[in-house]
Amino acid sequence: MIHIKSEQEIDAMREPCAIVRDALAYVGSKIRPGITTAELDRLAEEYIRSRGAIPSCLGYCGYPASICASVNEEIVHGIPGERVLRAGDIVSIDLCAYKNGFHGDGARTFPVGEISEEKKKLIRVTEECFWKALENLHAGTPLYDIGAAVQKHAEENGFSVVREYSGHGIGREMHEDPSVPNFGKRGTGIRLKEGMVICVEPMILAGSRKSRVLADGWTAVTADGKPAAHYENTLVIREDGAEILTL
Ligand code: MF3
Ligand code: CO
Repeated sequence: MIHIKSEQEIDAMREPCAIVRDALAYVGSKIRPGITTAELDRLAEEYIRSRGAIPSCLGYCGYPASICASVNEEIVHGIPGERVLRAGDIVSIDLCAYKNGFHGDGARTFPVGEISEEKKKLIRVTEECFWKALENLHAGTPLYDIGAAVQKHAEENGFSVVREYSGHGIGREMHEDPSVPNFGKRGTGIRLKEGMVICVEPMILAGSRKSRVLADGWTAVTADGKPAAHYENTLVIREDGAEILTL
């Protein structure tokens, strides 16, 4: 069931979403060669709690940290640890904050020091995929137009879209209906309505679309070892467009 939010509920979501936006910028400002992903997790948790919110990834389905930190070939759900970031790496930070009874959710991929041209293009195209999806996103848009736009832009650039992970509705629960895939056929799926709140989150792979999960039960990696990037915002469907809450 898709929950349509009232303006009052949307107003309550503004704060957790602003905290997600700021926490991503804060963590991004700390990324440099030599820092560990565990240190980024600690900084994010401290920051989110300092704003009176709960880092709601922590404990979600048993997830052991406040952020996901996915390095290079890791697509999503990388568990922070003693891994030291090195110049040339890219790291996707995905985090959620819970406050006022609602969750906010967002992700960004950051370069560590100087990175290759291929990785720069991958980060750029992944964010562009998000904006392509927003070009025609408003009340009445068929749900799978989002994935169709993401997939088209990724594939036109020689990249691929992972099939096993998707965007989602969000609100009082971190994951609500509908599922928002990053691939699909234009003109299909339910029609989005004013007041639906969803996370649009392109996860783009430099090589083949195949993924697998590591033995930790969480970390999704590319099957071919090529890098992946992630860009996510929480947004409200409006009559005339999308109102982004995490920017
Ligand atoms: N923030 C992620 C999302 O986009 C959820 C991460 S799973 C968790 O849906 F277990 F880490 F919370
Ligand atoms: Co999400």
